[in-house]
Amino acid sequence: MQLITSAAELANWRRHCRQPVHFVPTMGALHHGHRRLIERAAACAGGAEPQVVVSVFVNPLQFGPGEDFHRYPRDLGADAALAEAAGAAVLFAPGVGDIYPGGEAEAFGLRVPAHLQAVLCGRRRPGHFDGVATVVTRLLALVRPDRLLLGEKDWQQLVILRQLVAALSLPVVVQGCATVRDPDGLAASSRNRYLSPAEREQALALPRALAAAGASPDPVAAVRHNLEAAGLTVDYVQVVEANSLRPLASPHGLSLLAAAVHCGGARLIDHTFLMNRSPIVAIDGPAGAGKSTVTRAFAARLGLIYLDTGAMYRGVTWWVQRQGVDPADGAVVAPLLEGLDLRLTAGAGGEQQVSVNGHDVTSAIRSPEVTAQVSVVAAHGCVREALTRQQQAMGERGGLVAEGRDIGTAVFPDAELKVFLTATVSERARRRALDLEQRGFAVPPLEDLEAQIAERDHLDSTREVAPLQMAADAVELITDGMTIDAVIQALVDLFRSRVPEEAWPAPAAR
Ligand code: PAF
Repeated sequence: MQLITSAAELANWRRHCRQPVHFVPTMGALHHGHRRLIERAAACAGGAEPQVVVSVFVNPLQFGPGEDFHRYPRDLGADAALAEAAGAAVLFAPGVGDIYPGGEAEAFGLRVPAHLQAVLCGRRRPGHFDGVATVVTRLLALVRPDRLLLGEKDWQQLVILRQLVAALSLPVVVQGCATVRDPDGLAASSRNRYLSPAEREQALALPRALAAAGASPDPVAAVRHNLEAAGLTVDYVQVVEANSLRPLASPHGLSLLAAAVHCGGARLIDHTFLMNRSPIVAIDGPAGAGKSTVTRAFAARLGLIYLDTGAMYRGVTWWVQRQGVDPADGAVVAPLLEGLDLRLTAGAGGEQQVSVNGHDVTSAIRSPEVTAQVSVVAAHGCVREALTRQQQAMGERGGLVAEGRDIGTAVFPDAELKVFLTATVSERARRRALDLEQRGFAVPPLEDLEAQIAERDHLDSTREVAPLQMAADAVELITDGMTIDAVIQALVDLFRSRVPEEAWPAPAAR
């Protein structure tokens, strides 16, 4: 690991670095929470192995008068040992002049919007988040990382920095990592060093009060009561909407219940997330965009149930054909839906099995006959209503990712994340040609494939029933030029920008 102490030296290192750079900004006094962040930053997310830069800089701009700037623990030797053991390539420990040329009093500063500062720690520490935003922006300009890793422990900071990166279009992915706790439950923090053994014992009331609050009808009052009963001085206890930080009178949707206390000479913060159901992801998009492959892999990465709504429409089509009725005639299709027993289950290897009225139709629904008529059957209002109802019932408790055409608009309009996964017509034609070739079929000229795809898009998006439309609050992901792994990673990053690891841990961390 290289120790770099000046901006000029870092610029030189950066000029020669060809690998992706993952960045962990810190104020030093590194502990096992930082170690986990550095290890996560070093863990390769596909592609070239990243170089991890850890910065150590006690930023004067984020401390208020009377706060602990001067006594903040500083031990560069110990920090270097921990960072190196965790896999850092560079420890960047600049001086004030490298970060604020001309000195901190003369520094340009960023201002965080008032609504993000008027809650939680922002209300108690005026100017703190302006100082954080300023230093992190400056560090990002120097390090130029591909990925910025921050702890969910400082949730308000993470939300503000995510919004800052989006608002300024900074070319970096922000990744939050779950809070690391000591075995007794106290969240790892550099400021825990200020606690005497007796104070540490007392401080445990903070995580305990938060953990117990979920079950209470008035979690704020319950946490405050327990903290005060433990002799802690309460700075605040508050519930906010997790991603907007909008104050809430009581938990609703994905909410953050957070508290700050004074314990001896330390100010400690902690939080818990409250959710009324597990998360839902809606993935819509046109035919041929590769939705199924990436959605299935994304679901497995995050431990979400994969709901392939297309397979359900295919299942109904198979049943309609089996009854020998005209699939275009809604009046004869409707009675076939009464009592229809359509099930999606996971096979021994995790692959999806589809059964209709007791028949295993997993392969039959992929036949050319079903493919030819599924859009006719799926256009009947009665079919859409029946399957939408069934899909909504399947999603009642959440914990799933559903893929289709109208998931974000009709089936799960309150999904935590809606993605419209698409690719240009020419890219989809190229992919289809490749697929046909690999499967040994004749490949029509690309212009013909493009014309077919454009025509299908037009029909899908203009049909009367459940037209293919991007939900107003969906994120459009255009996958041209992206590998499958890159698309899956982009979906994971989007999911994580809405749902913290603490609220929905990845399967490996459960
Ligand atoms: O979380 C911290 O340690 C600091 O606020 C940060 C992000 C390094 C900025 O000084």
